[in-house]
Amino acid sequence: MPLLEVNNLHVQLQTQRGPAEAVRGIGFTLERGETMGIVGESGCGKSITVQSLMGLLPASAEVTGSIRFDGTELVGLPERAMCEIRGNRIGMIFQEPMTALNPVHTIARQVGEPLRLHRGLSNADARKEALALLERVGIPDAAARLDAYPHQFSGGQRQRIGIAMALACGPDLLIADEPTTALDVTIQKQILELIQNLVAERGMALILISHDLGVIAQSVSKMLVMYGGSVVESGPTAAVFAERAHPYTQGLFAARPALGAPRGLKLATIKGSVPELVDLPAGCPFAGRCRFTIDDCHTTRPPPTQMPHNHQVRCIRLDDVIAEGVTA
Ligand SMILES: Nc1ncnc2c1ncn2[C@@H]1O[C@H](COP(=O)(O)OP(=O)(O)OP(=O)(O)O)[C@@H](O)[C@H]1O
Ligand SMILES: [Mg+2]
Repeated sequence: MPLLEVNNLHVQLQTQRGPAEAVRGIGFTLERGETMGIVGESGCGKSITVQSLMGLLPASAEVTGSIRFDGTELVGLPERAMCEIRGNRIGMIFQEPMTALNPVHTIARQVGEPLRLHRGLSNADARKEALALLERVGIPDAAARLDAYPHQFSGGQRQRIGIAMALACGPDLLIADEPTTALDVTIQKQILELIQNLVAERGMALILISHDLGVIAQSVSKMLVMYGGSVVESGPTAAVFAERAHPYTQGLFAARPALGAPRGLKLATIKGSVPELVDLPAGCPFAGRCRFTIDDCHTTRPPPTQMPHNHQVRCIRLDDVIAEGVTA
């Protein structure tokens, strides 16, 4: 049984212009210890996808389909039961570390909190374990700084503290949503290496969201390319990088941003921009921007085409795209 099995996941959000589908029938599986990346332009549904796994969507969101985590169905799971999984079996690292940290509590208390809550540790034991975690993530002089507050640390150190919190209960799955984008370029590399080392040493599965293809290439064994709430291409990282079979993936590679580029970036070299959710076309989400588009692309949701190496592409013009070869 895979650790995580997502099938036909749909997420409908309430927007100012009415209900809109932010995630449109995506699916993937993740084995224990397996690492997966999600790439795609701003607004394509990456964060909404992982928030649905964590049960962190707004209350008005409607989720359908299936998310099976270690045999438990998470769609429709009552909040009480979800709390048992969140922060315990699934840990999350956020883009902005202060999202996870509470400014008015000491770091010892915050890193120890999940251990008291989920593992029933005493205050003293939780403090001891928090110290070990903070040392492992590289907080200098951690023993002397246990009673310091988040604002007394640098951005990179705060992200390390956020990672210690996410790891506290020894989760089976770690989710990192743009974990390095808010940091200086030199710090980005250190944090990324820390995440990679921790994932390997603890045998955790990883879902890493990044708009940086270099980060994806280094960190994960397989990947999803998302556009308009759909997965347009997926497969082993090496196969997707070698083939770049979907015109959108080709566009992403051509527009590869410089290391350290800010999140929320729009890819200027792909003509047009991501359509508003409520305006997404019935057919291929990329049809409005793609140079291979024919009439059918606007009306038909492309079915997946299976390529070698468990690599899948959703494009009805695939033969013509491949005939042209990789352009980027
Ligand atoms: N709470 C919400 N209510 C309504 N719409 C939302 C809400 N949160 C996100 N959206 C919309 O859902 C779509 C997908 O958002 P999501 O945050 O998943 O994008 P993303 O791929 O993570 O982008 P980014 O790279 O900017 O983080 C966007 O169009 C966004 O505007
Ligand atoms: Mg996001």
